[in-house]
Formats: sequence, structure tokens, C-alpha cells
Amino acid sequence: MPAPRLPEPAAQPQVPEALTFLEAYHAETGAPGLAERCQEVQRSGQLLLSTAELTHGARMAWRHSTRCVGRLPWASLQVRDLRHVSGASEVFAHLCAHLRAALNGGRIVPILSVFGPGVQVHNDQLIRYAGYPQPDGTVLGDPQNVALTRHLQRLGWAGGPGTPFDVLPLAIEAQGEVALFELPPDTVHEVPITHPDAPGLGALGLRWHALPVISNMTLEVAGQSFTCAPFNGWYLQTEIAARNLADEERYNALPAVAQALGLDTSQRRSLWLDRALVELNVAVLHSFDAAGVRMADHHSVTRQFQHFVQLEAQAGRTARGRWSWLIPPLSPATTPVWHQAYDDTELKPNFVPQVWRETHSGCPFQGP
Ligand code: ARG
Repeated sequence: MPAPRLPEPAAQPQVPEALTFLEAYHAETGAPGLAERCQEVQRSGQLLLSTAELTHGARMAWRHSTRCVGRLPWASLQVRDLRHVSGASEVFAHLCAHLRAALNGGRIVPILSVFGPGVQVHNDQLIRYAGYPQPDGTVLGDPQNVALTRHLQRLGWAGGPGTPFDVLPLAIEAQGEVALFELPPDTVHEVPITHPDAPGLGALGLRWHALPVISNMTLEVAGQSFTCAPFNGWYLQTEIAARNLADEERYNALPAVAQALGLDTSQRRSLWLDRALVELNVAVLHSFDAAGVRMADHHSVTRQFQHFVQLEAQAGRTARGRWSWLIPPLSPATTPVWHQAYDDTELKPNFVPQVWRETHSGCPFQGP
């Protein structure tokens, strides 16, 4: 009787992706040893990414982020290889260190921290303001974060002091267990919003945090998924002044800003909304500059984006982009991206949004 044939080992789905990544890595960085590395992957069916490979992969993921207009400095991304860290308290300590290092006294540094398997942050960004529904149907704080706030309260958060800008704790899930952590004050730098020549705007008590740190996207490199890989850049003023503080569904500050500026708000046709919007953008830039916190503006960042597209072409690559995300929400046609078309194909490595499953620790809110 012939010996029963053992089934062929199933082709690992990640092997082709691992090989494609290694080819790109070696071609782009000039690192030697591609053939040996590929043989290893063929032999073992897996790729243990080195820190250098993971770092370059994360940089490529930023370079490929079609929604990001601030990609010019992609190659400067600092990567903290924390794949050996997978306990909630340890993760939290490293997230605090990330926040301090990224702020860098105001000269913000783009950093990505990548953690071990089985770790996930429930918050969509490390710094978020609570949203508390009020009996009259309004929301105190950031209406976008009502579901997240409720989720954290269900996990045991007692709630904050009850200001419009209460910083939410972090829910860190590690190996199936969720724990809550309050961010220490020295990790959350905030900027009070004032206007260079309209003191009434400063009296509104508006503020925003210095660092946007996205924590709900999976980093995909070489066919491997890193579910906890928070990363930060620095803000573009329109994100805060033309969306977070301005949107009717967010802080809805334009009517108060218009009043502070003494504008006649009796009819929209007077363009009071538009005038308030411009002045709020002036105020946010002025305030971050006065506080010494790095911030982009939509005129410079879109020109830098043009430069990024040119550099990519020189490197033999086509920069991809989603036009509707790249144009700024203020005066878009005054920027060069308005007048361009972009190919929106998604390449790998990349960041992919996390889809919350209903079974996911009973997490009731939907990620964006
Ligand atoms: N738009 C988001 C916010 O207002 C931040 C997205 C990332 N932005 C950035 N500049 N890296 O919080």
C-alpha cells in the first residue's frame, strides 16, 4: 500500500504579499540581501519583519494614504517597534510616552507606535473630548463622541468635570480584556483659541488639543495586520476651525463667533457664516502659533502636496489621492489641488479602517 500522501501545506495567503513587500523594500531602500530574504519566506511560509522593514512599511503606508494631504514628510515618520508589548498597562505607558515625544515641546514629530497581537484601542483617537447628551436634546462637548463616551461610561468611567472639553479616558483591549486609563495632564497639551484683534472670540472659551493621534486604523504591511498602531502628524487648521469647531453637527461655534465679531446674522445672504468661518481659521492659526505648536495651513500644505506628487513621479511612482479628502473645506478653489485630478487606487502597505464587530467586547459604537 502506498503511504498516504500528506496534503501539501496550504499556500499561505500572506506569502505573495510578503514577497511583493520585500521587493519594494529592497528596491526603495537599497538594502542588500533580497534573494536570501525571499528564500527564507518561501521556505518557512512566513516573514518575521525586521524593525527596519516594519519602519519602511509604515512609512509606505503613510505615503499611500489617499485621504492625507500632508504626506510630503512621509519618509521622516518615526516608528516605535513595540511588537513585544501586549499588556494593557504597558501599552498605556507607551502611549503616554508616544504623546510626550510627539508633542516635542510644540515642534511636533510624526510618530507611529506598533504593538503586539491582540491589542486594540477602542477610542478612535488617543485624545478625544466627551459628548454628554443633555435633557433638552443638545450635547455638552463633542457630539461626534457621544457613542464613545457612553461606551466608556458602560466600561466604568464615572464621567469628567462636565466642561465642553473633557478629555476621555482610553479603553485599551488586550488579550480579550478591556481596561480604562485616564491620560495624565502632561500628555494632553491644549491650545486656548484667541483672535489677534477680536477679544470677544477669545472669551468664547474655545480650545483644541495639539495632537491628532489616530488609533482606530489597522496597519497592513507585507500581508500582516497590526491592529494597534496609533500614529500622529500635526494639525491642519481647517480640521479644527472649519470642521471640529464649525460643523453644525460638532461644536457649531459659528453663530457664537459671528456674535463675538459683531456681525449681522439676520440673513445668511450677508455671508456672516463665511466671514465667521474665516476669522475662526485666523484665530486657530494665531493661537497655535502663539502657543508654539506646529500647525499647517491649507495654502502651504496643498503646495507641499504638489511637491510630494512631483517627487513621487521622479521616483517612478504615481501619487494616489482622494480629491474630496485632499481639498480643504475652506476656500478650496484657491489651492492647487482643486484644479487637479487624482487616481484614488489604494496601494499596500496601507492603513485600513477597523470594522467593529457586534461581538467585539459588546462595543456598541461604530468606528467611522
Ligand atoms: N481630522 C481629524 C481631527 O480633526 C484628524 C485627522 C488626522 N489629521 C492630521 N493632521 N494628521 O481630529
